[in-house]
Amino acid sequence: MSKKLDVWRRYKAEGRKLSLVTAYDYAFAHLAAQAGLDGLLVGDSLAMVVQGQTDTVGVDLHTMCYHTAMVARAAGDCLVFADLPLGSYEGSPTQAWESSVALLKAGADVVKLEGGAEMVDSVAFCAQRGINVCAHLGLTPQRVRQWGRFRRAGKTADEAAQLEADAARLAQAGAAFLLLEAVPQELAARITRNSPVPVIGIGAGPDTDAQVLVLHDVLGLSERTPRFARAFMQGAEIVTDALRNYADAVRLGHFPPDAGATD
Ligand code: KIV
Repeated sequence: MSKKLDVWRRYKAEGRKLSLVTAYDYAFAHLAAQAGLDGLLVGDSLAMVVQGQTDTVGVDLHTMCYHTAMVARAAGDCLVFADLPLGSYEGSPTQAWESSVALLKAGADVVKLEGGAEMVDSVAFCAQRGINVCAHLGLTPQRVRQWGRFRRAGKTADEAAQLEADAARLAQAGAAFLLLEAVPQELAARITRNSPVPVIGIGAGPDTDAQVLVLHDVLGLSERTPRFARAFMQGAEIVTDALRNYADAVRLGHFPPDAGATD
């Protein structure tokens, strides 16, 4: 595992970009690893893209461990990040540590939690006990019900200064990675430049050390794709066509062939 972490640190030092995608099961994790991705994130976005919920609030630690185990089995050289879900870590540093251990036992290399300065003690507590923590700042989807919508962060000078200060404190507390979601490009660039640890971005422009996207957005399988994402194939169309062709073949008697033909 430390070899995988070393790659990330070396790439940051050399200014080389890293790519991650979310993964929720063995089959897609295997394909992503084969494709040469640097990291896989078992995101709590699985509540939305796998379970059909409207936000990430409803997913629990047991479910995150279940999906982490499947992904870890296929990860190969990819660093496996797993999300601590809402309610599993905010109570105290001890709670954060216990939940992190559960994700590590399931196969995660790094645990990700959402929040700024209020998470410094928990990050330090976990880091001092050998856990790699990624601190997720900016748009933190677990808090969406407080705002009533997904909103970009760091748009005002005060918000930007707060984010920058939080990022510095979290890294100093021992966070092994930072993740910036939906923050202005210049702010993300500044935080990345000043950060001693690799910074992952989503909707934060091209200057972060690494980029992450939700798998279903990359494959064109999402019902709604955020503006900052890009579908690299029209997956929904391809899959629907294949399934329609299969159903048509069955209806028309073209599939399966006579049993004798396959014996
Ligand atoms: O859960 C998730 O997929 C995430 C990414 C959007 C960063 O946290």
